[in-house]
Amino acid sequence: MRTSEPRLQRKLRAWLLGPLLILLMLDAMAAYWTSQRLANLAYDRALHEIAREIVLHVRRDGARLRLDLSQPAADILLTDAQDRLFYRVDAGDGTVLGGDTALPLGRRVAPGGEPLFSQETVHDQPVRMIVARMRVDNAPGAPLVQVQVAETLNKRNRLALEMVANVVLPQLLLIVMATALVWFGVSRGLEPLQRLRRAVSDRSHLDLSPIDTHDVPGEVRPLVDEVNELMARLGRTFDFQNRFVADAAHQLKTPVSGLKAQIELALRENDPERVRHSLAQLYISADRLSRLVRQLLSLARNEPGALETVQLQPLDLNAFALEVSMDWVPNAIKRNIDLGFEGVEQPLTIDADRDRLREMINNLIDNAIRYSHEGGRVTVRTGHTPEGQCKLAISDDGRSIPVAERARIFERFHRLLGTQEDGSGLGLAIVSEIARLHGASITLEEDVDGVGNTFTVVFRPAAGAGPVRDNPVSESADQPL
Ligand SMILES: Nc1ncnc2c1ncn2[C@@H]1O[C@H](COP(=O)(O)OP(=O)(O)O)[C@@H](O)[C@H]1O
Ligand SMILES: [Mg+2]
Repeated sequence: MRTSEPRLQRKLRAWLLGPLLILLMLDAMAAYWTSQRLANLAYDRALHEIAREIVLHVRRDGARLRLDLSQPAADILLTDAQDRLFYRVDAGDGTVLGGDTALPLGRRVAPGGEPLFSQETVHDQPVRMIVARMRVDNAPGAPLVQVQVAETLNKRNRLALEMVANVVLPQLLLIVMATALVWFGVSRGLEPLQRLRRAVSDRSHLDLSPIDTHDVPGEVRPLVDEVNELMARLGRTFDFQNRFVADAAHQLKTPVSGLKAQIELALRENDPERVRHSLAQLYISADRLSRLVRQLLSLARNEPGALETVQLQPLDLNAFALEVSMDWVPNAIKRNIDLGFEGVEQPLTIDADRDRLREMINNLIDNAIRYSHEGGRVTVRTGHTPEGQCKLAISDDGRSIPVAERARIFERFHRLLGTQEDGSGLGLAIVSEIARLHGASITLEEDVDGVGNTFTVVFRPAAGAGPVRDNPVSESADQPL
């Protein structure tokens, strides 16, 4: 991040100063044009005067005309402190009466009418030239002469520049002052943002406490609130992770120590038969440990931050639950358990992540088979709730979980006292995380007849799934697996 000047500040300044400077330039151009017009207006009159004076020196010699302008007279008329002047007088018949023929012959103007002014070049110098036609002696009917007087542009330019300077300089000053004010104002206005930036960049990466919103400008307040909200969420995730790591380490410690002890014992054995027995025991322990590690990984995968990795796709809960249940048949047979499936006929489409849903059903069926008695019944059911939601229920007819324990068994590492079977206490925590990732709810109710447990997961039907009709479970749907 650049520290010297935030982009917003530069942008503001550019937007304020850029247009101001362009306006100043346009204004200076207009001022220059006006000044030049005014300067011409002032000095053109003097040129006209000189032209009149020169005509007064034209004499009539019978029919011939002659210019009688002595050098001293010419000097008086045509000498100027700043500019050079040129003149030329032509008779009506085109004969040059006097002056400088380097002056280009101007257009003919009406006798006595308004003189013409134009920009010309004489002896490589830009000049302003007047062309006028006047009668000799100013007498009516007298012959006409064309008088031209030209003047270099020094004093006109100087006057124009002076006038421009008078107009533009104060404006320039104004702009400089405005610039300074804008600069100052923008810096002051953005000061709270700078402070905010420092407050964030100075803090430790472990400090997730909310940013102080006191003194934060209203415009960025929602942003800061969002950031604070994000930090709070991050904080919760961190807490969760820390707790998880601590729990996991604690849970792994005992089986690993057990394993070590078993190995030490086995090392002391000499009888090959007993060594074999120890190894078999070790294998069982290692297997248990590996299951615990798998469950821990699964819990980590499904923790609150996992929402982004969930890939929900439309899936038929009915068919899927049947498919997963089938995998459990060998296990059920081993324990002499009657595993049944009751579904509905039409598909129950929900949005689900296949792998996670499988894991959820596996955990629930595993519990049902593991914790109910030999020769019991386990039933997997799918269907609609009265509200039209999609339902998955796994029931067993084993010992009922006491009411006081029904919420706690979903906590990680919580197991019922006296549970003989192997386990980590993570299965139901994983199940409830997966339910949460699917926006589904999970409940454990007492069975109607007072024995056994039914875990029910209720899903929203997939968006765009057909209308929900209650379909009574048909006979053929109740099938032993
Ligand atoms: N269907 C069930 N019948 C009786 N007890 C159950 C059932 N499901 C879960 N439990 C109890 O809840 C505890 C937590 O289950 P779970 O989270 O899956 O962990 P684990 O199976 O690894 O012990 C189990 O140890 C068991 O005591
Ligand atoms: Mg379990």
